Amino acid sequence: MTEMTTTLIGSGAAKATEQEAVRVSQEAAGDAEYTFSVEGLDLFYDQTQALKNINMNIEKNHITALIGPSGCGKSTFLKTLNRMNDWVEGCRVTGKIQFEGKDIFKEVDPLALRYRVGMVFQQPTPFPKSIFENVAYGPRIQGISNKKELAEIVEQSLRQAVIWDELKDRLNESALGLSGGQQQRLCIARTLAARPSVILMDEPTSALDPISTQKIEDLALELKKDYTIVIVTHSMQQARRISDKTAFFLLGELIEFNDTVDMFTQPSNAQTEAYITGRFG
Ligand SMILES: Nc1ncnc2c1ncn2[C@@H]1O[C@H](COP(=O)(O)OP(=O)(O)OP(=O)(O)O)[C@@H](O)[C@H]1O
Ligand SMILES: [Mg+2]
Repeated sequence: MTEMTTTLIGSGAAKATEQEAVRVSQEAAGDAEYTFSVEGLDLFYDQTQALKNINMNIEKNHITALIGPSGCGKSTFLKTLNRMNDWVEGCRVTGKIQFEGKDIFKEVDPLALRYRVGMVFQQPTPFPKSIFENVAYGPRIQGISNKKELAEIVEQSLRQAVIWDELKDRLNESALGLSGGQQQRLCIARTLAARPSVILMDEPTSALDPISTQKIEDLALELKKDYTIVIVTHSMQQARRISDKTAFFLLGELIEFNDTVDMFTQPSNAQTEAYITGRFG
């Protein structure tokens, strides 16, 4: 996964193109009603269909939780939103996804899309570099080389990820020496430093203790003021605590998508009810 993350951020050789792509995409950010608008999305891994006719609008400055049993397509759906499945051989997508009103397969540069739509994985994936350089990596690739400016971005991103106080005296130490919970918040800071408008989180707390989990949940609630968040979780409590909308997936289908409060108090589908009450999955 580290390898993939590195690829996402890119190499020095592609720098000029990336800077241009990011600039164009930021200029293009429109006033679309939804952050993502997904219509008739089908996804195949070779002959196997992993997503079936998904239709879903993801609202700006909301937290949308994706729930469902293992293998139902949550991670696949999340990765489709920033075209990370482009790297998967044999993966084929049909249907339409609009990001801020633009077709992500036709009108948006994939590299720029991945800056605007950042991703945080289940296992924290810090680079084997210093804490400072982990966070400065994205801005550096985007062409920022001024030391003072970089230092400001690093501080601001670490503050946003609520880890500045813990790390401010350790910026030159290796990120690999941090605890799992600290590494996860560092990875969130690294994502924020690339100035996204969306943060995709794939089970970001499943490897963390309850205290670190709570910190990440509080952080997500704080971040939704400025960002749109889509989070995959196996914890019904977590979905209830932090999300505005919940999507229930089963065998590649979106079974129910509703306000979280309604979904958990009066699910309209019997399968949703069975899942959220722990009767299967
Ligand atoms: N790269 C891949 N190549 C082939 N099949 C894949 C690939 N990635 C996922 N799949 C298949 O697609 C289906 C959905 O997988 P996905 O990882 O999206 O599920 P998930 O809901 O995230 O599950 P979990 O809760 O276990 O993480 C599964 O049947 C899985 O085996
Ligand atoms: Mg998954």
